[in-house]
Amino acid sequence: MTRLHVINHPMIQHKLTIMRKKETGSKDFRQLLDEISMLMGYEVTRDLPLEDVRIETPVSKMTGKEISGRKLAIVPILRAGLGMMTGLQTLVPVAKVGHIGLYRDEKTHNPVVYYCKLPLDIQERLVIVTDPMLATGGSSCDAIRMLKERGCRNIRLMCLVGAPEGIERVQKEHPDVDIYLAAVDDHLNENAYIVPGLGDAGDRIFGTK
Ligand code: PRP
Ligand code: URA
Repeated sequence: MTRLHVINHPMIQHKLTIMRKKETGSKDFRQLLDEISMLMGYEVTRDLPLEDVRIETPVSKMTGKEISGRKLAIVPILRAGLGMMTGLQTLVPVAKVGHIGLYRDEKTHNPVVYYCKLPLDIQERLVIVTDPMLATGGSSCDAIRMLKERGCRNIRLMCLVGAPEGIERVQKEHPDVDIYLAAVDDHLNENAYIVPGLGDAGDRIFGTK
């Protein structure tokens, strides 16, 4: 069963509140999302396995720790997921990056695929899918399905704000995928927007409205 991790560190909650305010502009919105993504990245990568490695400091020999073998990939769901990529990359600079392009049809709210470019060895990697908004869950579920069709078996979903409907859907369709969120909001409105949410994440990141 999917584990739901709500990362409610005070720094994250504080930054998220500023992001939610309607008067916060694109520049601050982007910067805060970047900062939160790096902070969330600590939790998403908390259980990565370590192995001993012999090294030499300027003073003596010692046994240090290194992350063992497990290679990572970051897969943002375009567009808004891009806003969570750089924070994670700062933490894991060697991670490869794939892109999945999806947009929600305005009437049906169902996701439509328009792009998919993934690292060739994606199936050997621990994949962190990023998207700030988990609303109906359609986009995240489709992205995860596409990754599984390409052989991925270790997938984590990192979002900022989730609605109960979207969380339930991911848990049902992909019980093997852990979800990481900074907040669980109340419900979806008639346009399938998260309430209270933060509005349209893509538009706020890229200033398109
Ligand atoms: C938004 C958001 C998610 C999706 C969430 O993308 O970034 O990808 O909606 O909704 P869901 O859980 O109901 O699928 P949008 O379709 O607005 O595209 P954009 O990121 O390009 O703006
Ligand atoms: N997509 C967004 O950007 N915001 C929502 O609240 C729901 C879907």
